[in-house]
Amino acid sequence: MRKLFFLPLMLLASLAFTTACSEDEPYADGQEQTTPPGGGDGGSSEGNDENVPDGNVDGTNGRYLVVYCSRTGNTQRMAQAIRSALDCDMTVVEPETPYEEDYDAMLDRAQAELAAIGQGNYPAITTAVESFAGYDIVFIGYPIWFGHMATPMQTFLHNHADLLAGKRIALFASSGSSGIGTSERDAASLVPDASFEESLLLTSGTLDDMGTRIPAWLEELGARRGENASVRITANGQVLTATMEDNGAARDFLSRLPIDVTLEDFNNITEKIFYPQPELSLDDTPRGCAPAPGDITIYEPWGNVAIFCKESGYSNSLIKIGHIDGNGIEALRVAGEIQATVERLE
Ligand SMILES: Cc1cc2nc3c(=O)[nH]c(=O)nc-3n(C[C@H](O)[C@H](O)[C@H](O)COP(=O)(O)O)c2cc1C
Repeated sequence: MRKLFFLPLMLLASLAFTTACSEDEPYADGQEQTTPPGGGDGGSSEGNDENVPDGNVDGTNGRYLVVYCSRTGNTQRMAQAIRSALDCDMTVVEPETPYEEDYDAMLDRAQAELAAIGQGNYPAITTAVESFAGYDIVFIGYPIWFGHMATPMQTFLHNHADLLAGKRIALFASSGSSGIGTSERDAASLVPDASFEESLLLTSGTLDDMGTRIPAWLEELGARRGENASVRITANGQVLTATMEDNGAARDFLSRLPIDVTLEDFNNITEKIFYPQPELSLDDTPRGCAPAPGDITIYEPWGNVAIFCKESGYSNSLIKIGHIDGNGIEALRVAGEIQATVERLE
C-alpha cells in the first residue's frame, strides 16, 4: 500500500551539516553514458517497465519501496530492475528546478549544490513520502556526483530522516567509475538512525551486468517477491482453499498451522469468527479493508479473525490476511458453530 504524496517543497534551510564536496576534485570525465528516459536500452527486459511513464509505480508487494533520482536514466534503469524483481512500490525524486541538459552546466550546478549542502542548504525537491511504515527495506538509488550522493537524494534523506529512523535502507548507485564509499557516508550522516544494508554500485563498465548483479544482490539482502501461500480449510465435511496475503499477520497465521478452530456466527452470519490465542502479530501489516464475501480478516480492536460471508463497509480496523477461493465461502454461510481445520498447502 502506497504512502506517497507529491508536492512542491520549498528549499529548506537547515543547520544540519553533511560532508562538503570541496574535498573532491570536479568530475572531469566529460563522457556520459546515458539510458533513454523510461529505461529502455534495447538490452535486458529488466528495467523496461512499460508502465513507468514518470517513475512512480504501485506494486503488489508492499514490503519494499524503491526511491531513486536519475538525470540520464542509468540509476532509473537499476531502480526499474529492482522494482520489477520485487514487484514493489517505486517513486522518483525530482529536483524542483529541472536538471540541466548541458553536461558542463550540470557539473557547475552540482558543485554549487554540494557546496550549499555543506552549508546546510538543501536544493528543493518535489517529492515527499508520508510514511515508510510497513516497508521491510527502503531502496535508495542515485547517481554519484563528484564522489557524493546526487543532491536531490541528499535532500530527500534530509527531509525524511525522522521517518526513516530505524528502517533498513539499501543504497544503490550508478557512476562513471567512482566508488560508492563517500556517498554511503553521506547517507549515514543524513539518516543516522537507519540501519544500512550492503550497497550496490554499478559503473559505466558494469551497468550492463545488472541482469545478474541485481538479482544476486537482492538474494543477499533476502529481498524477494511476495509469496502468496495457500491453505486448505476443512469445514462441515467440505474442503475449501484460501489464498493468503503477503503481510506480517498472514505470515504469523501461517506459522501456526495446522490449527483447529471453532467458527462462531457474528452479526447474523455476516461473519464467521474465532479468536486466535495469542492474538496475531500485526507488525508489517497494512490496515484498512472493505471486506468482500470470502475475505479472511482480523478485527484489530478485538483481535479476532473474521471470515466475511457477506459484503461489508470499509473499516480502518479490519486487516485482510487472505481470501477463500472461488465460491468456497458458501460452505461457511450456515447458522451455528462450525468446527474447522486449517492446514498449509505446499
Ligand atoms: C554532476 C555530475 C557529477 C558526476 N560525478 C561523477 C563522479 O564523481 N564519479 C563518477 O564516476 N561519475 C560521475 N558522474 C557520472 C554519473 O555518476 C554517471 O553517469 C551516472 O551513471 C549517471 O546516472 P543517471 O543516469 O542516473 O543520472 C557525474 C555526472 C554528473 C552529471
